[in-house]
Amino acid sequence: MIEYINGCYHITTKALGYALRITQHGDLQNIYYGRKVSGEDLNSLIKHRELLLVNTLYTDGDESYGIDDMDFEYSFSYRGDSRSCAANMTTDNHSVFDFVFDAARIDAKLPNSCMPIPNGYDNSLCITLKDRLHSDLELELWYLSYDNCNIIARFVRIVNNSGQAIVINKLMSAQYDLRLNQPRLISLCGAWGRERSDKEHIITAGKLNLGSFSGMSSAECNPFFMLKSEDASVNYGDVYGFNLIYSASHEIGAELTPYGGVRLTNGVQSEGFSYRLDDKQEFISPLSISTFSDCGLNGVSMNMQKFVRELVSPKIEVPIMLNSWEAMYFDLDCDKLKLFADKAHELGFEGIVIDDGWFAHRNDDSSSLGDWYENRHKFPNGISEIADYLKAKDMKLGIWIEPEMISEKSELFIQHPQWVLRHPQARQIVGRSQYILDLSQSEVQEYLYNILVRIITQYGADYIKWDFNRRFSDVFGGEGGAYYYRYILGLYSILRRITDDYPNVTIENCASGGGRFDLGMLSYCPMGWVSDNTDPLSRAEIQDGTSYGYPISVMLNHITAKLSHQTRRSTSFKSRKDTAYIGVLGAQWDITKIDDFDKQLLADTVAQYKDERRDLLVSTLTHIPTSDNTVAWQIMSEDNDLGWLYLMHKRFYTVGVLPILKLSNLDSEERYRIYGDNVDVVLSGAALMNVGLILPQNYQGVKVSDKLLNLTDVSTLLLRIQKIREDR
Ligand code: GLA
Repeated sequence: MIEYINGCYHITTKALGYALRITQHGDLQNIYYGRKVSGEDLNSLIKHRELLLVNTLYTDGDESYGIDDMDFEYSFSYRGDSRSCAANMTTDNHSVFDFVFDAARIDAKLPNSCMPIPNGYDNSLCITLKDRLHSDLELELWYLSYDNCNIIARFVRIVNNSGQAIVINKLMSAQYDLRLNQPRLISLCGAWGRERSDKEHIITAGKLNLGSFSGMSSAECNPFFMLKSEDASVNYGDVYGFNLIYSASHEIGAELTPYGGVRLTNGVQSEGFSYRLDDKQEFISPLSISTFSDCGLNGVSMNMQKFVRELVSPKIEVPIMLNSWEAMYFDLDCDKLKLFADKAHELGFEGIVIDDGWFAHRNDDSSSLGDWYENRHKFPNGISEIADYLKAKDMKLGIWIEPEMISEKSELFIQHPQWVLRHPQARQIVGRSQYILDLSQSEVQEYLYNILVRIITQYGADYIKWDFNRRFSDVFGGEGGAYYYRYILGLYSILRRITDDYPNVTIENCASGGGRFDLGMLSYCPMGWVSDNTDPLSRAEIQDGTSYGYPISVMLNHITAKLSHQTRRSTSFKSRKDTAYIGVLGAQWDITKIDDFDKQLLADTVAQYKDERRDLLVSTLTHIPTSDNTVAWQIMSEDNDLGWLYLMHKRFYTVGVLPILKLSNLDSEERYRIYGDNVDVVLSGAALMNVGLILPQNYQGVKVSDKLLNLTDVSTLLLRIQKIREDR
């Protein structure tokens, strides 16, 4: 709900409250963001803020109006606020803008946006600021409340009717001036093969500037982050969570002010950003989403998961696919794929994905991107032969494509050199021997749309694996980082058209693993490839970090070979399977060469997943605090009637003790059966939450007994949780 009460705009969701007001000088001041309080309390919260006297810079002779400590909703560089400001713009002659409140509209209709904005918000608020120095230059601050998910989203729109061009150097989606004791920021930073592991940053003096600079949301720093007080932990304390619905370079700024406030900003990366906004043009920022919980990191994570699962990602039941990449790499052909499909069918898979290597002259990664027609040596009768073969088995056809890319060795490069993002005179910078196509050109967008339509309609693809395997370089046009913004609008417009026109086609989001795993891409793709690294030990850590911001329904995992192709570590089928199971399941493994034992295990897994996926994929994961030697998750259905318990045991220590697993969000009065993997107990919700699940003794020494657990190095438990119904 959004209402104007006690001089404040009060935005509330089921559990949250956010209040802001227009000050006596026409600025927007944040009054409160946290657990919902009554509108009556807002008066005293305002009074409390008014008492803070700060003696540096102030507005219009009003000494209590200290600019340095004001909790501004949005501030502009060069106006006395020495913190990192949300906006920085210039005209030909100067860089001072003086925006003040002009109007506010509750339940305002959203402007047409080229950025993805999830439907399903309950209310909107648009506050228009007008610049006193340039008439008809307006900045709109938009707020959306998603009540059931406890999400408050913001974006800004700038409309220029001033008669002159403005250059935007920085325009964050949101600025959050918050009050929190001893703040810590938790980011999901990493690299290829170890994406999104959670890192804690102390926010003290100075500015913390995170984000990505490579043109993509990146494996190095995901746009999701949290802010917590020092004492907050997995299940306790005050935590805020933030994300951005955007896939290009982004920025996260955090600083502690000398007066104890925390300023956060997130939005489009401002380094090198220079966007010329001509007269009669407008600019829209991506959506910044936020939430708060006083139940620790899990509270924030639960809100984020619900929002992404229910309102961001498309609702498509993703088939269980067997992917050819680690099974064949580039060495694939129609006959091999037919055999692959036979075995996949026998084991219960619902389709196969023909990964890289099926097109033009592609026998390694040095050529052919852009030439999206089948290689006639590998497919003498075209893709339609394997497509028909799969159709006869009622299986889905998935096709890998890297549409945004072009190889120098390609026909497309010869035909359209002007489509390539590179500087003809500079030294050529390639990544994986390839260049990026300039998606800011509408001609290129049209070409790509038609390629995708051809793959869907002529090849009959039900599933597209959309890959993106290099970073940007050589952006041209004099606008530096602003190019990424224009590029991503081009990409979103293609994705929007394709998903509108072919809503039943599943698009898997991939970028060298999870290099563009963000809410922008997940607005069009029901799930994304979490990482190329499927070694269960690494993978458990990657999924652990990822699940703070994203639900398991968008996390695509594969069961792969015993010997990991990424870490060269050998692990058991069970640990590979249990880890892949917590998400959208698939596999990439040469199942034409595995023994009957593994085949049976795989078939059983697929069958069980088919039984459970409808419940599993609408469930919410919470992290169980344990030790550094374990990763533990509880995954519960919405009604808390059934769930899964996952434990990754990293290293076996003799006389090592397994952690007690304290569950959460159960009904204290009800009884639950926890079973599987040599565990079978019935306990009340109260006991499971307060005492916890005490696991049987782990294998110690020579005597192996089936009453013991047998958790060696990199081994897992996957237990079921079932509420016991009295009527059964
Ligand atoms: C990327 C992807 C892989 C695979 C290869 C093919 O690395 O992450 O899954 O598709 O490209 O070249």
